[in-house]
Amino acid sequence: MIEYGAGADVLDELHRWLLTEHGETVDPDRLRHVRAEVERVVAQGVPGAVVELGCFRGAMTLWIRSVLDALGDDRPVHVFDSFEGLPDTTEEDEIVMPLGAMSASQAEVLKTFEAWHRTPPVMHPGWFEDTLHDGLPGQIAFGYLDGDLYSSTVVSLAECVPRLAPGGALILDDYADPEANPRTVVKFPGVKTACDEYFGRPTPVEVLIGEGDLAYGRYVRPSS
Ligand SMILES: C[S@@+](CC[C@H](N)C(=O)[O-])C[C@H]1O[C@@H](n2cnc3c(N)ncnc32)[C@H](O)[C@@H]1O
Repeated sequence: MIEYGAGADVLDELHRWLLTEHGETVDPDRLRHVRAEVERVVAQGVPGAVVELGCFRGAMTLWIRSVLDALGDDRPVHVFDSFEGLPDTTEEDEIVMPLGAMSASQAEVLKTFEAWHRTPPVMHPGWFEDTLHDGLPGQIAFGYLDGDLYSSTVVSLAECVPRLAPGGALILDDYADPEANPRTVVKFPGVKTACDEYFGRPTPVEVLIGEGDLAYGRYVRPSS
């Protein structure tokens, strides 16, 4: 049972604002699924930190922070980003993105948070390969993995999965599986390739379905 009180109204307002101001990275399906996962880990008392790997301008970070706040959960949110955009693509990505695409600064993340008077996240600037191993908290309750590319997903999984608390979850953005969700758009095929290699077959990654072309995977660490 989720107890929100007045926080629910604020989330409705924020939801509208995010779709207007940050529609390049968030949509109603994404917001709904992330909210549900954060609510679940809080309701079930899953211990550990909340992290986002690839935060860009901090839109989803603000949503996660605000859902936690509305639930009265003050654990910090940790974000990891180069703040210089994407690294080079590799052949596993099957696409070429210019080095530095999707670049946003730490100041932009702060501005996103200031607009809603929220406590900013703990920011870990740098390439995942250099920051995750020593910077990630020892135990993770929820992680939003949104690094777009194969190499970024490989290192994100390697560092996050072993730290997941029992019942803890990862949402894998851009995990597109048209067999499970025919509406999905395969924008970044390297993400699913990295997940398939990491988890093997049968995969424990659940495909989340939305009203639109959602490309989302969900991995929950078994409780026992
Ligand atoms: C799609 S954007 C993230 C969007 C954000 N999660 C949201 O929902 O608003 C991808 C981000 O991942 C970052 N990124 C990707 N690979 C990275 C890596 N290997 N190291 C550091 N940052 C990386 C990019 O800088 C970019 O900001």
